[in-house]
Amino acid sequence: MSDVMSMVVGEIVLNRELVPRHFLMRVKLPASLAIPLPGQFVMVRIRGRIEPLLGRPLSIYAFERDKTALVIELLYRTMGKGTFALSRLKPGEDLEILGPLGHGFDIFPEIKKIVLLAGGIGVVPLSFLASHYRKLPTNDHRIIAYLGAKSADHIVGMDRLKETCTEIKISTDDGSSGYRGFVTELLAEDIESYLHGDSVIYACGPRAMMKRLAELLKDQDISCQVSVEERMACGVGACLGCAIHVKAGGDKTQYRCACQDGPVFDIRDIVWN
Ligand SMILES: Cc1cc2nc3c(=O)[nH]c(=O)nc-3n(C[C@H](O)[C@H](O)[C@H](O)COP(=O)(O)OP(=O)(O)OC[C@H]3O[C@@H](n4cnc5c(N)ncnc54)[C@H](O)[C@@H]3O)c2cc1C
Ligand code: FES
Repeated sequence: MSDVMSMVVGEIVLNRELVPRHFLMRVKLPASLAIPLPGQFVMVRIRGRIEPLLGRPLSIYAFERDKTALVIELLYRTMGKGTFALSRLKPGEDLEILGPLGHGFDIFPEIKKIVLLAGGIGVVPLSFLASHYRKLPTNDHRIIAYLGAKSADHIVGMDRLKETCTEIKISTDDGSSGYRGFVTELLAEDIESYLHGDSVIYACGPRAMMKRLAELLKDQDISCQVSVEERMACGVGACLGCAIHVKAGGDKTQYRCACQDGPVFDIRDIVWN
């Protein structure tokens, strides 16, 4: 858990559907809230509602800060009752926000090729990460984003990535945009060019995508961090509901809390089977 996180009430200033089932939300929060780091998330709960009782974890997409407020951006896909209820909210309504939570991505300013592998809504923390790299004093990184989606109308986050990335490669399962097939296949075509000690890979997306990435990198010497999207109830390490199976040295394994010990892990530390 972040050392400086708190529960605050935020005011929605925007909640707009970008493409079907994908909403961009801006929430105004007290300026005292800790600055979020790429890969951190917040637990979001609708104020005054009994249902759903528990907050829902959403990654930080972007933020702006001035003297009076911290405005965070969230980008979410409606999945069930929590995110559907969020999608009905209007500007001016309140949200309870707990965060920023979790450990974000490690940043390597000296590594020059930053490779992002996003499956669907997994683009959210990676887009924040790309802008973070862009703001580093040594703004000389090549940022290459691989973006996979079911079809062209499920692609989100392109506008922001265009501002920060050197190159964006698209794949769709049905071939309606870019390469036809899984985004990991697209990355596999280029992987050789990232194996010279000057690259790091960051990924976020469905478990199957990340498992395939783990297989692809099994015998390769390249650093790779993934943000996992386990189901979470408390977000702070109290309920043990987000257990993730990780290696513990030798043949041993153990369970860690994705919320508190993650959500970012080294891809080689996770037991994928
Ligand atoms: C650290 C973290 C960051 C996340 N960031 C984002 C984000 O930026 N944008 C975004 O759209 N989503 C994000 N998610 C996923 C999001 O939290 C879930 O989609 C949401 O909690 C579902 O709640 P619900 O009430 O709408 O659905 P529920 O009614 O709880 O479930 C409906 C369906 O969604 C599936 N589901 C529930 N939770 C998850 C989950 N964590 N991951 C995948 N599928 C799930 C269930 O299996 C079920 O099929 C993140 C999850 C984590 C853990
Ligand atoms: S969600 Fe409760 S311990 Fe992680």
